[in-house]
Amino acid sequence: MPIDFYSKLTNASGVYTFRDFVLVPGRSDVEPSKVDLSVNLTKNVHLNLPLVSSPMDTVTEADMAIALARQGGIGIIHRNMSIEEQVENAKRVKRAESFIIRDVVTIAPSQKISDALELMNTKSISGLPVVQDGERMVGILTRRDVNFSDPKEQVSQVMTKEVIVASPDVTIEDAKKIMNKRKVEKLPVVDQNKRLLGLITIKDVYSRERFPLATRDNQERLLVGAAISPYDLDRAKALEKYVDILVSDVAHFHNTNVLEAAKKLTKEVAVEFIAGNLGTLEGARDTLEALDGRVAGIRAGVGSGSICVTSEVTKAGAPTLFAVAQIAAAMQETGLQIPIIADGGIRAAGDGALALAAGASAVMMGNVFAGCTESPGGLIKIGGKYYKPYRGMGSLGSRQKRFAIDRYNQPAKGIAEGVEGVVPYRGDVSTVVEEFSGGLRASFGYAGASSVKDLWVKARFGAVTAAGIDEMRPHSIILPGEEKI
Ligand code: XMP
Repeated sequence: MPIDFYSKLTNASGVYTFRDFVLVPGRSDVEPSKVDLSVNLTKNVHLNLPLVSSPMDTVTEADMAIALARQGGIGIIHRNMSIEEQVENAKRVKRAESFIIRDVVTIAPSQKISDALELMNTKSISGLPVVQDGERMVGILTRRDVNFSDPKEQVSQVMTKEVIVASPDVTIEDAKKIMNKRKVEKLPVVDQNKRLLGLITIKDVYSRERFPLATRDNQERLLVGAAISPYDLDRAKALEKYVDILVSDVAHFHNTNVLEAAKKLTKEVAVEFIAGNLGTLEGARDTLEALDGRVAGIRAGVGSGSICVTSEVTKAGAPTLFAVAQIAAAMQETGLQIPIIADGGIRAAGDGALALAAGASAVMMGNVFAGCTESPGGLIKIGGKYYKPYRGMGSLGSRQKRFAIDRYNQPAKGIAEGVEGVVPYRGDVSTVVEEFSGGLRASFGYAGASSVKDLWVKARFGAVTAAGIDEMRPHSIILPGEEKI
């Protein structure tokens, strides 16, 4: 059969991007403030806001993951670091908050005050339960006790012996009442035999009130994910105890070797696995078949990222909106309801709303979060304005670091697929998330949708022409700062 090259061109399907569409306003009885933005990112991971930060070395380490989880989303710790460092980042998120801390740092009564001081300083903690024979609580040592003592003294000489404690079934409300009434900031949890089971701190109790939307696990710790290569079983095994999801971090998941590796890996790890990136119906279909029930979510989008030169260099790509709709079609075909994460190219809430309308359950953003205080890297001042560094994980700088630490990242492709630069500083994650979720709520209001699932049903897409793109933004006006133009 001769190959019909001409039809390949004439039958080419449109690969749509965010700027090709608008959400057509629909009849609405939904007030934006009443919109429910909570979603399932996977079967087990429930988010109060559909926002995920990209696993990139200028976007998500522990600080970003803590800040975003407190607002209701989730951060995915990048993998451009050693396994130990990535595990430590995940642990930092898990330690940031919990109702009852389980891995309590303790000291023995026979130790010296100098030991206590060192522990407090290295672990950044202000109070140590004093534990005899590794189990029984006999006192508590606060920073005040330590500061006014001789470093050579024994802990048992200085510690407070009459300790206010709680039983294992204490509720948050009870703990708060006890701590307020007895004016203590730490409340050890002990059993009938005074065996130390955990520790409640006033900081954690109040944190629940300060961050009512925070996404938490069943121990009230913040949720966190980590990126892995599907080939890197060691990393996945090291991380699985400390993260709520593992997220595949390859540009082209629809590759026979990657699928094979992911198949093996998902059989060995217990934590949920998000596959990706994928861009087509066939890619999703093959992934679902190969991983046979072990896909908890799919990252959708190839080549749309703001730092991406993949499509420019290779001419390969599946823009995020197209990818989401394609993968959603695969879900419809298979009857599976596996959440889709729209990844790449989302500049503002409107793009996020379109991605959700096309079938996504959440949006993953690098650029937007890179500009926040909590992303790695300091502020850069250029011409009186502040910026933060941002680079693609396929950029030269990022790849050089990865090849140095990760043996699974052989420089198979000799070309850079990402660029390095700066993005405007946007302020704290809390401000950015508030703005973004406000925008999403407004979009839902126009579409008449009260939740993401409702949006899937009610959203109507309008195709925009080139003239429309020009008209649907401020025009025929000189804006402040543009006066000289
Ligand atoms: P945004 O648009 O939020 O996109 O900056 C972030 C997403 O882009 C992907 N990513 C890359 N894609 N080359 C690429 O082709 C790269 O170097 C690169 N680095 C990140 C990734 O999916 C991320 O979430």
